[in-house]
Amino acid sequence: MIDVGIIGATGYAGEELIEILLRHPEVRIKYLAAKIEKASPIDEIFPKFKNKIDVVCKPFNLRSALSKSKLLFLALPHTVSLKIVPKLLKSNIRIIDLSADYRLKNIKTYEKFYQAKHKDGKNLKSAVYGLPEIYRNKIKKAKLIANPGCYPTAAILSLAPLLACGEINQEEIFIDAKSGATGAGRRAEMKYFFSEINEDIFAYKINMHQHMPEINQELSKLATAPVEVTFVPHMLSVNRGILETIYVKQDKKLKLENKKLIALYKNFYKKEPFVRIKPEGESVHIKDVAHTNFCDISITSFPKQDLVIIVTAIDNLGKGAAGQAVQNMNIMMGFPEQMSLA
Ligand SMILES: NC(=O)c1ccc[n+]([C@@H]2O[C@H](COP(=O)([O-])OP(=O)(O)OC[C@H]3O[C@@H](n4cnc5c(N)ncnc54)[C@H](OP(=O)(O)O)[C@@H]3O)[C@@H](O)[C@H]2O)c1
Repeated sequence: MIDVGIIGATGYAGEELIEILLRHPEVRIKYLAAKIEKASPIDEIFPKFKNKIDVVCKPFNLRSALSKSKLLFLALPHTVSLKIVPKLLKSNIRIIDLSADYRLKNIKTYEKFYQAKHKDGKNLKSAVYGLPEIYRNKIKKAKLIANPGCYPTAAILSLAPLLACGEINQEEIFIDAKSGATGAGRRAEMKYFFSEINEDIFAYKINMHQHMPEINQELSKLATAPVEVTFVPHMLSVNRGILETIYVKQDKKLKLENKKLIALYKNFYKKEPFVRIKPEGESVHIKDVAHTNFCDISITSFPKQDLVIIVTAIDNLGKGAAGQAVQNMNIMMGFPEQMSLA
Protein backbone atom coordinates (compact mmCIF):
# COMPACT_ATOMS: atom_id res chain seq x y z
CA MET A 1 0.00 0.00 0.00
CA ILE A 2 1.44 3.42 -0.91
CA ASP A 3 0.44 6.99 -0.11
CA VAL A 4 0.13 9.27 -3.13
CA GLY A 5 -0.60 12.92 -3.82
CA ILE A 6 -1.98 14.88 -6.76
CA ILE A 7 -0.96 18.46 -7.49
CA GLY A 8 -3.45 20.00 -9.89
CA ALA A 9 -6.26 17.95 -8.36
CA THR A 10 -9.06 20.28 -9.50
CA GLY A 11 -8.32 20.08 -13.23
CA TYR A 12 -9.73 17.55 -15.68
CA ALA A 13 -6.70 15.24 -15.45
CA GLY A 14 -6.51 15.60 -11.65
CA GLU A 15 -10.20 14.75 -11.27
CA GLU A 16 -9.76 11.67 -13.48
CA LEU A 17 -6.74 10.60 -11.41
CA ILE A 18 -8.82 10.78 -8.21
CA GLU A 19 -11.56 8.74 -9.88
CA ILE A 20 -9.16 5.96 -10.95
CA LEU A 21 -7.05 5.95 -7.77
CA LEU A 22 -10.12 5.64 -5.53
CA ARG A 23 -10.69 2.16 -6.98
CA HIS A 24 -7.03 1.18 -6.62
CA PRO A 25 -6.59 -1.40 -3.83
CA GLU A 26 -2.89 -0.58 -3.27
CA VAL A 27 -3.13 3.22 -3.08
CA ARG A 28 -4.25 5.81 -0.53
CA ILE A 29 -4.74 9.41 -1.71
CA LYS A 30 -3.20 11.49 1.10
CA TYR A 31 -2.40 14.84 -0.46
CA LEU A 32 -4.33 17.04 -2.90
CA ALA A 33 -3.28 20.52 -4.05
CA ALA A 34 -4.31 23.11 -6.63
CA LYS A 35 -3.98 26.83 -7.25
CA ILE A 36 -7.06 27.56 -5.11
CA GLU A 37 -6.76 30.34 -2.54
CA LYS A 38 -9.03 28.73 0.04
CA ALA A 39 -8.51 25.13 1.16
CA SER A 40 -11.64 23.05 0.48
CA PRO A 41 -12.59 19.40 1.00
CA ILE A 42 -12.29 17.69 -2.36
CA ASP A 43 -15.81 16.27 -2.00
CA GLU A 44 -17.14 19.84 -1.85
CA ILE A 45 -15.31 20.72 -5.05
CA PHE A 46 -16.50 17.46 -6.67
CA PRO A 47 -19.70 16.27 -4.91
CA LYS A 48 -19.47 12.96 -6.78
CA PHE A 49 -16.64 12.00 -4.39
CA LYS A 50 -18.87 12.39 -1.28
CA ASN A 51 -18.39 9.47 1.15
CA LYS A 52 -15.51 8.23 -0.98
CA ILE A 53 -12.62 10.43 0.10
CA ASP A 54 -11.91 12.67 3.06
CA VAL A 55 -9.02 14.89 1.95
CA VAL A 56 -8.83 18.68 1.88
CA CYS A 57 -7.45 20.24 -1.31
CA LYS A 58 -4.98 23.03 -0.45
CA PRO A 59 -2.60 25.42 -2.16
CA PHE A 60 0.65 23.61 -2.96
CA ASN A 61 3.10 23.31 -0.06
CA LEU A 62 6.39 21.52 -0.63
CA ARG A 63 6.80 20.14 2.89
CA SER A 64 3.24 18.75 3.10
CA ALA A 65 3.49 17.20 -0.36
CA LEU A 66 6.71 15.41 0.58
CA SER A 67 5.64 14.31 4.06
CA LYS A 68 2.30 12.88 2.91
CA SER A 69 3.26 11.06 -0.31
CA LYS A 70 5.68 8.46 -1.62
CA LEU A 71 4.64 9.19 -5.19
CA LEU A 72 3.24 12.41 -6.65
CA PHE A 73 1.18 13.00 -9.75
CA LEU A 74 1.61 16.48 -11.21
CA ALA A 75 -1.45 17.42 -13.29
CA LEU A 76 -0.34 21.03 -13.76
CA PRO A 77 -0.18 23.40 -16.71
CA HIS A 78 3.19 23.40 -18.49
CA THR A 79 5.93 25.55 -16.85
CA VAL A 80 4.40 25.03 -13.37
CA SER A 81 5.91 21.53 -13.03
CA LEU A 82 9.25 22.94 -14.11
CA LYS A 83 9.27 25.18 -11.03
CA ILE A 84 8.54 22.45 -8.48
CA VAL A 85 10.08 19.23 -9.85
CA PRO A 86 13.71 20.21 -9.02
CA LYS A 87 12.68 20.95 -5.41
CA LEU A 88 10.67 17.72 -5.06
CA LEU A 89 13.41 15.56 -6.53
CA LYS A 90 15.86 16.62 -3.84
CA SER A 91 14.01 14.16 -1.63
CA ASN A 92 13.29 10.48 -2.11
CA ILE A 93 10.01 10.77 -4.01
CA ARG A 94 8.85 9.45 -7.37
CA ILE A 95 7.02 11.75 -9.76
CA ILE A 96 4.67 11.26 -12.68
CA ASP A 97 4.36 14.58 -14.48
CA LEU A 98 1.39 14.86 -16.85
CA SER A 99 2.57 18.15 -18.31
CA ALA A 100 4.89 18.64 -21.27
CA ASP A 101 7.77 20.04 -19.20
CA TYR A 102 9.95 16.92 -19.28
CA ARG A 103 8.88 15.35 -22.57
CA LEU A 104 10.96 17.16 -25.18
CA LYS A 105 14.64 16.30 -24.88
CA ASN A 106 15.70 19.28 -26.98
CA ILE A 107 15.44 22.41 -24.80
CA LYS A 108 15.34 24.77 -27.79
CA THR A 109 12.37 22.90 -29.24
CA TYR A 110 10.56 23.12 -25.88
CA GLU A 111 11.24 26.85 -25.64
CA LYS A 112 9.99 27.42 -29.19
CA PHE A 113 6.75 25.46 -28.87
CA TYR A 114 5.90 26.32 -25.25
CA GLN A 115 7.13 29.92 -25.34
CA ALA A 116 8.93 29.51 -22.00
CA LYS A 117 12.48 29.09 -20.72
CA HIS A 118 13.53 25.62 -19.62
CA LYS A 119 16.08 25.68 -16.82
CA ASP A 120 16.09 22.09 -15.61
CA GLY A 121 18.29 20.28 -18.12
CA LYS A 122 19.54 17.91 -15.41
CA ASN A 123 16.17 16.33 -14.62
CA LEU A 124 15.09 16.55 -18.25
CA LYS A 125 17.97 14.26 -19.14
CA SER A 126 17.00 11.56 -16.65
CA ALA A 127 13.20 11.83 -17.17
CA VAL A 128 11.70 8.73 -18.79
CA TYR A 129 9.03 9.15 -21.47
CA GLY A 130 6.14 7.23 -19.96
CA LEU A 131 4.77 5.22 -22.84
CA PRO A 132 4.71 1.68 -21.35
CA GLU A 133 4.37 -0.12 -24.68
CA ILE A 134 7.80 1.25 -25.71
CA TYR A 135 9.68 2.11 -22.49
CA ARG A 136 8.36 -0.35 -19.87
CA ASN A 137 11.80 -1.39 -18.58
CA LYS A 138 13.00 2.18 -18.10
CA ILE A 139 9.71 3.16 -16.41
CA LYS A 140 10.21 0.48 -13.72
CA LYS A 141 13.23 2.28 -12.27
CA ALA A 142 12.44 5.92 -13.12
CA LYS A 143 12.24 8.67 -10.50
CA LEU A 144 10.62 11.12 -12.92
CA ILE A 145 8.15 10.10 -15.60
CA ALA A 146 7.20 12.46 -18.39
CA ASN A 147 3.70 11.18 -19.09
CA PRO A 148 3.08 11.47 -22.85
CA GLY A 149 0.69 13.92 -24.47
CA CYS A 150 -2.69 12.69 -25.62
CA TYR A 151 -2.27 13.22 -29.38
CA PRO A 152 1.29 11.76 -29.28
CA THR A 153 0.11 8.63 -27.41
CA ALA A 154 -2.34 7.79 -30.21
CA ALA A 155 0.10 8.72 -32.99
CA ILE A 156 3.07 6.76 -31.63
CA LEU A 157 1.05 3.62 -30.86
CA SER A 158 -0.45 3.86 -34.37
CA LEU A 159 2.89 3.98 -36.14
CA ALA A 160 5.31 2.05 -33.92
CA PRO A 161 4.82 -1.38 -35.54
CA LEU A 162 5.41 -0.05 -39.07
CA LEU A 163 8.36 2.15 -38.09
CA ALA A 164 10.00 -0.59 -36.05
CA CYS A 165 10.13 -2.87 -39.08
CA GLY A 166 11.12 0.00 -41.42
CA GLU A 167 8.34 -0.64 -43.91
CA ILE A 168 7.09 2.90 -44.55
CA ASN A 169 8.16 6.11 -46.19
CA GLN A 170 9.16 8.21 -43.19
CA GLU A 171 8.92 11.46 -45.14
CA GLU A 172 5.22 11.15 -45.89
CA ILE A 173 3.21 10.66 -42.71
CA PHE A 174 -0.03 12.64 -42.50
CA ILE A 175 -1.87 12.73 -39.18
CA ASP A 176 -5.43 14.02 -39.12
CA ALA A 177 -6.23 14.24 -35.40
CA LYS A 178 -9.43 15.13 -33.55
CA SER A 179 -9.87 15.78 -29.84
CA GLY A 180 -12.78 16.29 -27.48
CA ALA A 181 -13.03 19.59 -25.59
CA THR A 182 -11.58 18.34 -22.28
CA GLY A 183 -8.25 18.11 -24.10
CA ALA A 184 -7.89 21.87 -23.66
CA GLY A 185 -8.18 21.71 -19.84
CA ARG A 186 -10.73 23.23 -17.51
CA ARG A 187 -9.92 26.84 -18.31
CA ALA A 188 -12.53 29.52 -18.78
CA GLU A 189 -11.64 30.82 -22.23
CA MET A 190 -14.54 31.86 -24.41
CA LYS A 191 -13.48 29.74 -27.36
CA TYR A 192 -13.96 26.61 -25.20
CA PHE A 193 -17.47 27.48 -23.96
CA PHE A 194 -20.15 24.87 -24.71
CA SER A 195 -22.01 27.15 -27.12
CA GLU A 196 -18.83 27.88 -29.06
CA ILE A 197 -17.78 24.27 -29.50
CA ASN A 198 -21.11 22.47 -29.63
CA GLU A 199 -22.11 21.23 -33.10
CA ASP A 200 -18.83 22.39 -34.60
CA ILE A 201 -15.53 20.92 -35.75
CA PHE A 202 -12.52 22.96 -36.77
CA ALA A 203 -8.80 22.58 -37.45
CA TYR A 204 -6.37 24.61 -35.34
CA LYS A 205 -2.61 25.16 -34.93
CA ILE A 206 -1.95 23.47 -38.29
CA ASN A 207 1.74 22.57 -38.51
CA MET A 208 2.49 24.44 -35.27
CA HIS A 209 0.83 22.39 -32.52
CA GLN A 210 3.10 21.72 -29.52
CA HIS A 211 2.49 17.96 -29.75
CA MET A 212 4.05 17.75 -33.23
CA PRO A 213 7.69 17.89 -32.04
CA GLU A 214 6.88 15.29 -29.36
CA ILE A 215 5.52 12.94 -32.03
CA ASN A 216 8.57 13.62 -34.23
CA GLN A 217 10.98 12.99 -31.34
CA GLU A 218 9.51 9.61 -30.47
CA LEU A 219 8.91 8.40 -34.03
CA SER A 220 12.49 9.34 -34.95
CA LYS A 221 13.78 7.16 -32.10
CA LEU A 222 11.67 4.23 -33.31
CA ALA A 223 12.74 4.72 -36.93
CA THR A 224 16.38 5.44 -35.95
CA ALA A 225 16.18 8.25 -38.51
CA PRO A 226 14.65 11.74 -38.51
CA VAL A 227 10.86 11.69 -38.94
CA GLU A 228 8.78 14.82 -39.49
CA VAL A 229 5.06 14.30 -39.63
CA THR A 230 2.38 16.56 -41.05
CA PHE A 231 0.01 17.09 -38.13
CA VAL A 232 -3.44 18.66 -38.33
CA PRO A 233 -5.39 18.73 -35.04
CA HIS A 234 -9.12 19.43 -34.88
CA MET A 235 -11.46 20.36 -32.05
CA LEU A 236 -14.44 18.02 -31.90
CA SER A 237 -17.73 18.69 -30.18
CA VAL A 238 -17.54 15.78 -27.72
CA ASN A 239 -16.38 15.92 -24.10
CA ARG A 240 -13.66 13.32 -24.27
CA GLY A 241 -11.88 11.16 -26.82
CA ILE A 242 -9.27 11.37 -29.54
CA LEU A 243 -9.55 9.92 -33.03
CA GLU A 244 -6.55 9.99 -35.38
CA THR A 245 -6.62 9.01 -39.05
CA ILE A 246 -3.07 8.50 -40.28
CA TYR A 247 -2.01 8.16 -43.91
CA VAL A 248 1.36 6.57 -44.70
CA LYS A 249 3.02 5.14 -47.81
CA GLN A 250 4.40 1.64 -47.48
CA ASP A 251 7.49 0.36 -49.22
CA LYS A 252 6.70 -0.20 -52.93
CA LYS A 253 8.11 -3.72 -52.92
CA LEU A 254 6.08 -4.73 -49.96
CA LYS A 255 2.43 -4.27 -50.94
CA LEU A 256 1.22 -5.78 -47.68
CA GLU A 257 -2.47 -6.56 -47.71
CA ASN A 258 -4.88 -6.09 -44.83
CA LYS A 259 -4.48 -9.53 -43.30
CA LYS A 260 -0.68 -9.33 -43.19
CA LEU A 261 -0.69 -5.79 -41.83
CA ILE A 262 -3.19 -6.69 -39.13
CA ALA A 263 -1.09 -9.74 -38.24
CA LEU A 264 2.00 -7.50 -37.99
CA TYR A 265 0.20 -5.17 -35.55
CA LYS A 266 -1.28 -8.02 -33.51
CA ASN A 267 2.14 -9.57 -33.17
CA PHE A 268 3.79 -6.26 -32.16
CA TYR A 269 1.21 -5.68 -29.43
CA LYS A 270 0.58 -9.32 -28.44
CA LYS A 271 1.62 -8.77 -24.81
CA GLU A 272 0.03 -5.34 -24.41
CA PRO A 273 -3.13 -5.34 -22.28
CA PHE A 274 -4.38 -1.93 -23.43
CA VAL A 275 -3.84 -1.99 -27.22
CA ARG A 276 -6.65 -3.62 -29.19
CA ILE A 277 -6.22 -4.29 -32.91
CA LYS A 278 -9.47 -4.40 -34.86
CA PRO A 279 -10.33 -7.28 -37.19
CA GLU A 280 -10.49 -6.45 -40.92
CA GLY A 281 -13.39 -4.13 -41.78
CA GLU A 282 -14.29 -3.21 -38.19
CA SER A 283 -14.38 0.51 -37.29
CA VAL A 284 -12.72 2.26 -34.39
CA HIS A 285 -15.01 4.38 -32.17
CA ILE A 286 -14.28 7.00 -29.52
CA LYS A 287 -17.30 5.63 -27.60
CA ASP A 288 -15.59 2.24 -27.20
CA VAL A 289 -12.57 3.72 -25.40
CA ALA A 290 -14.19 6.58 -23.44
CA HIS A 291 -13.57 6.21 -19.65
CA THR A 292 -11.02 3.43 -20.30
CA ASN A 293 -7.27 3.05 -20.73
CA PHE A 294 -7.66 1.25 -24.07
CA CYS A 295 -6.21 2.25 -27.41
CA ASP A 296 -8.15 0.82 -30.38
CA ILE A 297 -6.42 0.62 -33.77
CA SER A 298 -7.66 -0.35 -37.24
CA ILE A 299 -5.37 -0.77 -40.25
CA THR A 300 -6.40 -0.75 -43.90
CA SER A 301 -4.10 -1.33 -46.83
CA PHE A 302 -4.46 0.08 -50.36
CA PRO A 303 -1.73 -2.01 -52.08
CA LYS A 304 -2.18 -0.41 -55.55
CA GLN A 305 -1.41 3.05 -54.14
CA ASP A 306 1.16 1.71 -51.63
CA LEU A 307 -1.04 3.42 -49.02
CA VAL A 308 -1.88 2.39 -45.46
CA ILE A 309 -4.54 4.11 -43.37
CA ILE A 310 -4.47 3.66 -39.62
CA VAL A 311 -7.38 4.85 -37.48
CA THR A 312 -6.83 5.03 -33.73
CA ALA A 313 -8.97 6.05 -30.77
CA ILE A 314 -8.09 6.74 -27.12
CA ASP A 315 -9.71 8.68 -24.30
CA ASN A 316 -7.61 11.86 -23.90
CA LEU A 317 -8.13 11.71 -20.12
CA GLY A 318 -7.65 7.91 -19.98
CA LYS A 319 -4.79 6.45 -22.05
CA GLY A 320 -4.01 10.05 -23.06
CA ALA A 321 -3.44 11.28 -19.46
CA ALA A 322 -4.63 9.89 -16.10
CA GLY A 323 -5.09 6.24 -17.14
CA GLN A 324 -1.62 6.10 -18.62
CA ALA A 325 -0.22 7.83 -15.50
CA VAL A 326 -1.74 5.13 -13.28
CA GLN A 327 -0.45 2.43 -15.66
CA ASN A 328 3.02 3.98 -15.19
CA MET A 329 2.58 4.01 -11.41
CA ASN A 330 1.61 0.33 -11.48
CA ILE A 331 4.79 -0.48 -13.41
CA MET A 332 6.98 1.65 -11.12
CA MET A 333 5.58 0.11 -7.95
CA GLY A 334 5.45 -3.47 -9.20
CA PHE A 335 1.63 -3.66 -9.04
CA PRO A 336 -0.24 -5.62 -11.72
CA GLU A 337 -0.23 -3.27 -14.73
CA GLN A 338 -4.00 -3.40 -15.23
CA MET A 339 -4.83 -2.74 -11.56
CA SER A 340 -7.79 -0.31 -11.33
CA LEU A 341 -7.68 0.28 -15.09
CA ALA A 342 -9.57 -2.66 -16.56
N1 LIG B 1 -6.83 17.49 -20.54
C1 LIG B 1 -6.25 16.51 -21.20
O1 LIG B 1 -6.88 15.77 -21.98
C2 LIG B 1 -4.77 16.23 -21.02
C3 LIG B 1 -4.22 15.12 -21.68
C4 LIG B 1 -2.85 14.85 -21.52
C5 LIG B 1 -2.06 15.70 -20.74
N2 LIG B 1 -2.63 16.78 -20.16
C6 LIG B 1 -1.77 17.67 -19.39
O2 LIG B 1 -2.05 17.51 -18.01
C7 LIG B 1 -1.89 18.76 -17.33
C8 LIG B 1 -3.21 19.12 -16.65
O3 LIG B 1 -4.21 19.21 -17.66
P1 LIG B 1 -5.73 19.54 -17.32
O4 LIG B 1 -6.45 19.42 -18.59
O5 LIG B 1 -6.18 18.77 -16.15
O6 LIG B 1 -5.61 21.10 -16.93
P2 LIG B 1 -6.64 21.99 -16.09
O7 LIG B 1 -8.00 21.37 -16.18
O8 LIG B 1 -6.45 23.37 -16.58
O9 LIG B 1 -6.13 21.85 -14.57
C9 LIG B 1 -4.92 22.42 -14.12
C10 LIG B 1 -4.75 22.16 -12.64
O10 LIG B 1 -3.52 22.74 -12.20
C11 LIG B 1 -3.79 23.59 -11.08
N3 LIG B 1 -2.80 24.67 -11.05
C12 LIG B 1 -2.58 25.62 -11.99
N4 LIG B 1 -1.54 26.42 -11.62
C13 LIG B 1 -1.12 25.96 -10.40
C14 LIG B 1 -0.11 26.34 -9.48
N5 LIG B 1 0.68 27.38 -9.74
N6 LIG B 1 0.03 25.63 -8.32
C15 LIG B 1 -0.79 24.59 -8.04
N7 LIG B 1 -1.77 24.17 -8.88
C16 LIG B 1 -1.92 24.84 -10.04
C17 LIG B 1 -5.21 24.07 -11.29
O11 LIG B 1 -5.71 24.52 -10.06
P3 LIG B 1 -6.99 25.53 -10.00
O12 LIG B 1 -8.17 24.73 -10.45
O13 LIG B 1 -7.06 25.92 -8.57
O14 LIG B 1 -6.65 26.67 -10.95
C18 LIG B 1 -5.84 22.78 -11.78
O15 LIG B 1 -6.05 21.93 -10.67
C19 LIG B 1 -1.51 19.79 -18.42
O16 LIG B 1 -0.13 19.98 -18.44
C20 LIG B 1 -1.99 19.14 -19.71
O17 LIG B 1 -1.25 19.54 -20.84
C21 LIG B 1 -3.97 17.07 -20.26
